[in-house]
Formats: sequence, C-alpha cells, structure tokens
Amino acid sequence: MSVTFDFTGKNFVVVGATSGIGKQAAIELVDGGANILAIGRNIERLDALKNINPQKISAKNLDVTCATAEDWVDALENFKNKFGKIDGGIYSAGIYGLTPLNSFDTELARKIFDTSFWGMVNFLQVATKKIFSNAKSSFVVMSSIAASYGSKGLFAYAAAKAAVQAAIKPFAKEIIKNGHRINSVAPAAVQTEMLENNFISEDFLSRQILGVATPADITGLILFLLSSRADLITGQNFFVDGGYIVGAYV
Ligand SMILES: NC(=O)c1ccc[n+]([C@@H]2O[C@H](COP(=O)([O-])OP(=O)(O)OC[C@H]3O[C@@H](n4cnc5c(N)ncnc54)[C@H](OP(=O)(O)O)[C@@H]3O)[C@@H](O)[C@H]2O)c1
Repeated sequence: MSVTFDFTGKNFVVVGATSGIGKQAAIELVDGGANILAIGRNIERLDALKNINPQKISAKNLDVTCATAEDWVDALENFKNKFGKIDGGIYSAGIYGLTPLNSFDTELARKIFDTSFWGMVNFLQVATKKIFSNAKSSFVVMSSIAASYGSKGLFAYAAAKAAVQAAIKPFAKEIIKNGHRINSVAPAAVQTEMLENNFISEDFLSRQILGVATPADITGLILFLLSSRADLITGQNFFVDGGYIVGAYV
C-alpha cells in the first residue's frame, strides 16, 4: 500500500540527504515531481544521488557544523537561480554518540549539538527568508524519542533533540506571518547507518513492539507534513516510535 503526494513544480532542500531518512525523503520527493537541493558532506554520495535524476537534483557539499550564513545564502541562491524559490525543506543531519556524564568527550558532545541543533538553526535562519522561500513553505526537522526518553550516556544527543523540539514552537510563531510551517518528527530506532554504526540495546529495541522502523516508515509522515494536506499543522512534534512509549510501560 502506498500513499503518494504530488510535488510537481515544488522545490525542497534536504539537509542530510546522503544517507538514511534524508536520502529516502530526497528520492521520494523527486519521485513525487519535486526538484531538490541535496546537502551533505560526502561528495561521492552527493554525486550518486544527483545521478539518479540530474534534471531534478542539485547537490551541495556543506558541513552544517561550520557552514556560515554566506554558505547557506550561496547554496540557496544557486538553487533559486536554477529552479526558483523553495517550498520548504527537511533538516535530517545528525550524528549519534555516547557522552556519559562522568567521562564525556566535550568535542563530541558539542559536535552532536552543533549538527542536530545549531546547524538546523543556521539553515532555517536563511531558508525561511522571503527571498528564498515561497509563501506557505513547510519545514520538517528531525528530533528523536531520546528527547523524552534518553538512555544512559546520551545526554548530548537527548538534549540536542529536545532543543530541536523546543525551538520549533517559537520558530513556528515567527514564520507563520509568511504562511510558513515547521514541525519536528521524533523516531525511535530506524534502520539506517546511524543504527548500524552504534550499539542500541536489545532491551531498547524490544520495546518497539510494532517493529524497528525503516526510513520509509518515517518519510511517509515527513512528506505529508511537507504537503498541502498538512496546511493547518505547525509547531508540533510527532513521534514515530513503533510503540516504544506504549511498550515502555507494559
Ligand atoms: N536512525 C535512527 O535510529 C534515528 C532515530 C531517531 C532520530 N534520528 C535522527 O534522524 C536524522 C537522520 O538520521 P539517519 O538515521 O538517517 O542517519 P544517517 O543515515 O547516519 O544520516 C545522517 C545524515 O546526516 C548528514 N550529516 C551528518 N553530519 C553532517 C554535517 N556535519 N554536515 C552535513 N551533513 C551531515 C550525513 O551526511 P554526510 O555524512 O554526507 O555529511 C547523512 O546524510 C538524524 O537527525 C538522527 O539524529 C535517527
């Protein structure tokens, strides 16, 4: 069973498009008729993504932890010159890492926060400007169940994802004047490289009683939130947790 959205003539930015949820969303947006600006650090992966549909996919190599406002302006300006203003975007860049309180690596903790939170803020500051975005643009940013149910040793990741959820409420109030919307999506475990490369306990996974998500389980909601079917939804966080919250209290 599939639900599709018609994004013909629409333009979206996908930050973190080279892997996992962002890559799946980028491919589905293009399948739905959209043009996209794909952003990530891995040039080979950006090229591979672009080659899927060079007419509709533009790619830009940016590290969100050090991209300046000028970098974001450049990226959006170049895309606008080719395709026009954006109709929204997905911010999916994120890294995972353990930072136990008694022995954490400050650099790693900052990098986790910079990637999930400050990179998102810097992106939105430029992307939501009228010169770059059409009225009624929709933005979706990635949080995590860790924001509410952080496991031991996960304070930096949990705090960054909680900060994302907290920030979108004031952002929603600020950008609503242009008819723009912003929402966050908070999955539990999703089968991506992030999950493959990090240890997640069997106990955690077993609480996802409906199963561990695939990227497509998450992008259905993301595409809905980007679409006009969600025109009245803003400032909300949505869990896609496979039953984790329910399971946690069995
Ligand atoms: N997988 C899960 O279980 C899970 C659960 C809850 C929430 N999330 C969140 O969902 C989002 C997507 O996760 P995923 O599972 O799809 O992870 P993933 O497969 O590891 O993909 C992460 C993406 O972030 C990009 N990225 C990381 N650091 C970056 C940087 N400094 N600059 C630019 N791009 C950067 C990566 O691109 P490059 O390597 O090319 O830079 C990649 O495209 C993340 O925010 C994650 O925290 C994931």
